[in-house]
Amino acid sequence: MQKSSPIKLSPAQALQGTRNVQLAESNMAPLMRIRERFTKEKPFKNLRIGMALHVTKETAVLVETLVAGGAKVAIASCNPLSTQDDVVAYLTKKGIATYAYKGESTKDYYRFIKNVIEFKPHITIDDGCDLVYEIHQHNAELIPQILGGCEETTTGVVRLKAMEKDGALKYPVVAVNDNKTKHLFDNYYGTGQSTWDGIIRATNLLIAGKTVVVAGYGSCGRGVALRAQGMGAHVIVTEVDAVRALQAHMDGYMVMPMNQAAPLGDVFITVTGDKHVIDEQHMKKMKSGAILANSGHFNSEINLDALEKMATAKKEIRPFMTEYTISNSKKLPNPKEGANLNKSAKVLYVLGEGRLINLAAAEGHPSEVMALSFCGQALAAEWIAKNQIPKRTLSNAVYTLPDSVDVTIAKTALTAFGVSIDTLTAEQKAYLSGWKEGT
Ligand code: ADE
Repeated sequence: MQKSSPIKLSPAQALQGTRNVQLAESNMAPLMRIRERFTKEKPFKNLRIGMALHVTKETAVLVETLVAGGAKVAIASCNPLSTQDDVVAYLTKKGIATYAYKGESTKDYYRFIKNVIEFKPHITIDDGCDLVYEIHQHNAELIPQILGGCEETTTGVVRLKAMEKDGALKYPVVAVNDNKTKHLFDNYYGTGQSTWDGIIRATNLLIAGKTVVVAGYGSCGRGVALRAQGMGAHVIVTEVDAVRALQAHMDGYMVMPMNQAAPLGDVFITVTGDKHVIDEQHMKKMKSGAILANSGHFNSEINLDALEKMATAKKEIRPFMTEYTISNSKKLPNPKEGANLNKSAKVLYVLGEGRLINLAAAEGHPSEVMALSFCGQALAAEWIAKNQIPKRTLSNAVYTLPDSVDVTIAKTALTAFGVSIDTLTAEQKAYLSGWKEGT
């Protein structure tokens, strides 16, 4: 069905994709409401939107919402292991230029991003900033026609802000991740649940009674720790930020440096956005059988190169679960360290090649939460079009959408979930805006 994918995309896959996308639509009511409005208003008439996002059923709902708004769309994946091939088959059948397959090589990953760049987008939608980066590095000649971009994730926003600081950012980008209706929900409830979905699908491990080490206590780490605790795990949090560490402490978790946590953990989960959070020195201290998973954007949080070098054997135990044998036999036994040193070959398990475990071994965040994030993407793209056409009013900076957008998304979601809320009385409004009433 599709030339750019080496996998065979069958009609059966397209049918499965159709069913999955329909199921996602039924759980993404807020985004479907935006689709209804876009269908009438066509905010993206004559615009091309180039995307590098995880190619999932939820992303397909976003793609079709943008198309309903008049856009032509091309999409590549933003991670080699996150693509749902049935969704590729579905989108391809729908005539959307889709460049992705699950397990794509690094070479194909960048080739597919290039395909999206060659589509000459007016608006980019990114998750992790690889699309923006590739355009700036290799296709700067396209920048004058680009109206702006939207970024989905914390890691991408960090990269964009670094580009902005260096004066390297050459078109405006909206940090969709900074919407309250994104990071307070997607990162917390989404990552909290889907990370465990991935770990459990990959291992079928019982979580109750295990010691789980969560590296990073941002919105994602908080969600992962909360769900671990809910399943009966003993949770240890590692942090570099004093305020977050204090929060973790008062949330009831043990807090300590990774060096101390390393010998204690049964399961390690990185969600920091940084590199080598689990390094050689930590892996050397871990118990045999420890499981290592990452739920941060890039596969750099666990130092896999160091693990590969330390390992004397490596085998796939089952999909998304690799066993590394680390033997101390290269080291001469030191009699003072005890008789069992020469028997101390141990194994460590790495899940999903250290890539985002929720998308590698499971299906990513559930549709309900992605609806909120993707309402943010749809409205950010519309905001760019409105602010850049006919006259360009934005500068080459990282933008946060106005609060009113969050309020619109939250209200639409509450309506869709059948939840109603109170409104302020005139007396309360006056009280909140006054300063004369006290004790
Ligand atoms: N990121 C996390 N979960 C996702 C999903 N289901 N679809 C797209 N991006 C995601």
